[in-house]
Amino acid sequence: MTFKPEFLARVAERRAELQRTLGVLLPAPRAIVWEVGCGHGHFLVRYAAEHPGKFCVGVDIILDRLARSGKKRDRAQLANCHFVRAEAREFFNALPAGITFEEVWVLFPDPWPKARHNKNRLLKADFFNAIASRAGEGARFYFRTDHEEYFREVEATVATLPTWRRDPAAPWPLEQETVFQARAPSYHSLVAVRTSHPAPAVELAGPGQPPPAAPRSPA
Ligand SMILES: C[S@@+](CC[C@H](N)C(=O)[O-])C[C@H]1O[C@@H](n2cnc3c(N)ncnc32)[C@H](O)[C@@H]1O
Repeated sequence: MTFKPEFLARVAERRAELQRTLGVLLPAPRAIVWEVGCGHGHFLVRYAAEHPGKFCVGVDIILDRLARSGKKRDRAQLANCHFVRAEAREFFNALPAGITFEEVWVLFPDPWPKARHNKNRLLKADFFNAIASRAGEGARFYFRTDHEEYFREVEATVATLPTWRRDPAAPWPLEQETVFQARAPSYHSLVAVRTSHPAPAVELAGPGQPPPAAPRSPA
């Protein structure tokens, strides 16, 4: 795939800005709780309130949803909950060295139901390998969806990966209805635990995105 120079320049500037933002938000090594596609922030604000010792960061690509999330956080006066406008893979690639994941939450991700759009799904093996590269043994991945087929795909993917082990007995730490959960007639949940298997450092490129320009610094 070839990209126009203007497009590449805009992407490079956006990525540089994100790196600056994350350098300020996450100046020192720490483990974070990351929610991908946080939507209106219902889950993360409550989770951060109930876990004041955890540092929570939610990302979404829709500005209006992030604004609502930020208002909820401000009303709750939480210093441990932050929202960043970013595409998930770009956020991952822009993380400063030393930032690791204690937990990764993905609640009702866009299912991309048409077969020709399947490649747009976020929860593929490369994503799991990437988060494994920044997650110590015992870190947790929480996934919930009302899309049966996406759920089965993720279930099958996790089963092939030495870096993650599904834990069917693991509790769901917080039941907090999100906007998309409220619309779902039923849903499935999956919890996976990071194993001790080593994970290589990974860069993520989304569909239709140019590859990251520079090699990632080690976590
Ligand atoms: C179906 S909604 C679910 C929102 C929320 N988790 C909920 O349960 O109500 C999916 C969310 O993921 C966001 N999103 C989709 N693709 C994304 C990506 N690549 N990076 C970050 N956010 C993304 C969308 O903007 C949307 O807010």
